[in-house]
Amino acid sequence: MNGNGRNVGPDEDPLWYKDAILYELHVRAFLDSNADGMGDFRGLAQKLDYLQDLGVTALWLLPFSPSPWRDDGYDISDYTDVHPAYGTLRDFERFLNEAHRRGLRVITEIVVNHTSDQHPWFQRARRSPPGSRWRDFYVWSDRPDKYKDARIIFKDFETSNWAWDPVANAYYWHRFYSHQPDLNFDSPYVRQAVKEIADFWLEMGVDGFRLDAIPYLYEREGTNCENLPETHQYLRELRQYIDAKHPGRMLLAEANQWPEDAIAYFGAGDECNMAFHFPLMPRLFMAIRMEDRFPILEIMEQTPAIPPNCQWAIFLRNHDELTLEMVTDDERDYMYRVYAHDRQMRINLGIRRRLAPLLGNDRRKIELMNALLFSMPGTPVIYYGDEIGMGDNIYLGDRNGVRTPMQWSADRNAGFSRANPQKLYLPIIIDPAYHYEAINVEGQQNNPHSLLWWMKHLIEQRKQFKALGRGTLEFLRPSNRKVLAFFRRYEDEILLVVANLSRFPQHVELDLGAVNGMTPVELFGRAEFPPIGDQCWPISIGTYGYFSFAL
Ligand code: NOJ
Repeated sequence: MNGNGRNVGPDEDPLWYKDAILYELHVRAFLDSNADGMGDFRGLAQKLDYLQDLGVTALWLLPFSPSPWRDDGYDISDYTDVHPAYGTLRDFERFLNEAHRRGLRVITEIVVNHTSDQHPWFQRARRSPPGSRWRDFYVWSDRPDKYKDARIIFKDFETSNWAWDPVANAYYWHRFYSHQPDLNFDSPYVRQAVKEIADFWLEMGVDGFRLDAIPYLYEREGTNCENLPETHQYLRELRQYIDAKHPGRMLLAEANQWPEDAIAYFGAGDECNMAFHFPLMPRLFMAIRMEDRFPILEIMEQTPAIPPNCQWAIFLRNHDELTLEMVTDDERDYMYRVYAHDRQMRINLGIRRRLAPLLGNDRRKIELMNALLFSMPGTPVIYYGDEIGMGDNIYLGDRNGVRTPMQWSADRNAGFSRANPQKLYLPIIIDPAYHYEAINVEGQQNNPHSLLWWMKHLIEQRKQFKALGRGTLEFLRPSNRKVLAFFRRYEDEILLVVANLSRFPQHVELDLGAVNGMTPVELFGRAEFPPIGDQCWPISIGTYGYFSFAL
């Protein structure tokens, strides 16, 4: 351990992220220690015991730096500080050390595609003469018709990627909200400034970064301004820089792209260590609704192999909408029809709902989806609150409906805050089906049959098998398409996963040729199965049932 409690000994496995279980949270949403209606680092530190007990191994914190909060902190106005509402840098350091002491790693965000328009860099740029070093921190134009082939991402809110600035007397480029001007990565000063931001947090001891909106760093005429070679070149440079100065840290690419474009963010193992697998997520929802394994098989077969030191990050839900950018038009129509019949549930190209409401609060479906998340190739990411089946509020603006306070107990404000309920940063969920008095951590801790306990078992189980984080994937193709079955293998570990995607019990005959004669051990210990013989192995599996076997 070094001074700040980070494990940096020579024994530390540099590939730790392959066996990790990530928990995504917003400090604002976790626990309010000073009754101002907003979570803070002192509150979060108090809840580290809970997170340790849950069994997750790394925390991913949403942006917490100073910001006018017009995009929930993704609009940063000072990269090297903590928003005063969340505490001080000292509070962050204390939290970080406490997390490390418990063996929990901490991943923060580098949001450098854009800044807030309140950032001093932008304020300086707009007042500096065209062509000057300061002006060139951002992307300017006299006309709003450059880079026409770039799509608009926040299409419910923006009509152009250019906005007029009357102070600069010019248009500036923005891929997201117009109050988030894009930094200009053609400027060597910007590229250097990003390295300095990385140094600041890595020196403090953070274990890695999620790289927000990373495909959009550069703009080039005649392209869609995504995934450009210049972006990959810069990522290689950044990785080299970080590896040399701070070995063992992890870079996670947020690249909402098709698999072949997403894998480019791994480079030859010399860009990002991890990248989200965006296209898999909606297909898990599609498969369970269609009661057909096809969407999962298809996307995994289209997913190229990745360098051995790299890893996918996989997830069911996060702080954004369930994005439908990586599906076909027909698939999107289907997803809207079955998961977002109410217009209020939709935003941009996606669905703003949490996991439990999406799955009709069906416990078996929730278990099955989590079990799939924990057995597909990659590192699973749990979104805070989903471990207890929290509900959402589709009547709040933007994506706030999935960002409400964590529900700790049936006390006032769900035990999240002692403030006047009207002062909370967002209201607690009081929907009758998901009311915080019924859905909260305390209640579920006291009930061994709760979803929370089930999730703890799942997490525990995952930790026992390296094959889940590191193994190969090999699908079986039984004639019954409602059953998804696959092997995960790593060294001498062989796991067999069998999932019934249907609401009716299913029977299936598995051709397990290669593992004949072995005796399968069902990991949840719910049932005993006969040894695998020469013939097809018959198995019956209940409604949305799921078995995983060690062979
Ligand atoms: C991706 C983040 O996940 C999202 O919440 C944010 O609005 C955009 N990047 C813009 O920063």
